[in-house]
Amino acid sequence: MPGPEMPLVCLTDFQAQAREQLPKSSWDFIEGAADEGITMQDNIAAFKKIRLRPRYLRDVSEVDTRTTIQGEEISAPICISPTAFHCIAWHDGEVSTARAAQAANICYVTSTYSSHTMEDIVAAAPRGLRWFQLSVQSDWQLNRQLVQRAESQGFKALVVTVDSPILGKRRQDLRNQIHLRGNLTPKNFQSPDKTNPKSSALLTSMSTRFCWDQILWLQNITRLPIILKGILTREDAELAVEHKVQGIFVSNHGGRQLDEVPASIDALAEVAAAVRGRVEVYLDGGVRTGNDVLKALALGAKCIFLGRPILWGLACKGEKGVAEVLNILKDEFHTSMALTGCRSVAEINRDLIQLSKL
Ligand code: FNR
Repeated sequence: MPGPEMPLVCLTDFQAQAREQLPKSSWDFIEGAADEGITMQDNIAAFKKIRLRPRYLRDVSEVDTRTTIQGEEISAPICISPTAFHCIAWHDGEVSTARAAQAANICYVTSTYSSHTMEDIVAAAPRGLRWFQLSVQSDWQLNRQLVQRAESQGFKALVVTVDSPILGKRRQDLRNQIHLRGNLTPKNFQSPDKTNPKSSALLTSMSTRFCWDQILWLQNITRLPIILKGILTREDAELAVEHKVQGIFVSNHGGRQLDEVPASIDALAEVAAAVRGRVEVYLDGGVRTGNDVLKALALGAKCIFLGRPILWGLACKGEKGVAEVLNILKDEFHTSMALTGCRSVAEINRDLIQLSKL
């Protein structure tokens, strides 16, 4: 583990330092997984089983990491997944995250359960590319308000999480409940008079009835592209395309919902094959190195998103820490591209992956 004077050079250095700096209950909340944590471990391990097939003797003096998502240019296919309550990691929470994302010119997916209102987050970094993650609530009037507020605030897409009709069982959070409660205040639900009647009902107000029919309802109340987050099978990917969504996020919620589902990178090939390029496919879960980013793109993802590493960056150094995490991964991805002979993101394809290892 790096000492205080040692530079943090990779994402797991940030992980180690965040663990030192955070109170135990906050660390457990961020790092936590459902049940036995099998999927969370697999998310990392599955990437490490994949081997690369580099191509040499190509001029890699110019390597361009830029790409687009939903038609918007980003500096690299490395963006920020929605994670709840950034104030657990750093005092001004999402304000710092939003500023770092804007400076890096990447997309920040803001959680429904943020510890600042979406208006305050937008005000902190008004030029940043942002998508809004919707955890569908049982109160449909509230869903309508959240979606329409997000649209009017300039969020460019709606990321609808589908893997959480109820919460997974996170053992550590149950043990730490008493310490966490004060930090889990969802500011987006605050009523105009600033009282917060929803806070105690917070994590139980998600809709257990949400199903495919209501995708149409969402499409009818917003012009924003709709992206489904948490798809893991070819059947659901096919249904998503049939329901005319504009994107699919292959994700298992960082192993925090149903345990013992496949690692995200293992589910990606199945989903990408079903989608056949009809909509953009994204991935989150276990991305920690530039090679991981390259592997995800080679297997069909347009872009990857980071969950916990952003919170480690925040916990270590606030906005500067998030900027460093994003920069380190972008530099590593640049190196991975150059060392495999890819000069542009468009050149990353399936041939980079050794098939016998899949
Ligand atoms: C999450 N995740 C999540 N997802 C979501 O759709 N809405 C949310 O509010 C949250 N909140 C949340 C909090 C914390 C502390 C974590 C760690 C995760 C899941 C997140 O978007 C993403 O799917 C995973 O974190 C990706 O895996 P890695 O990068 O953490 O391995």
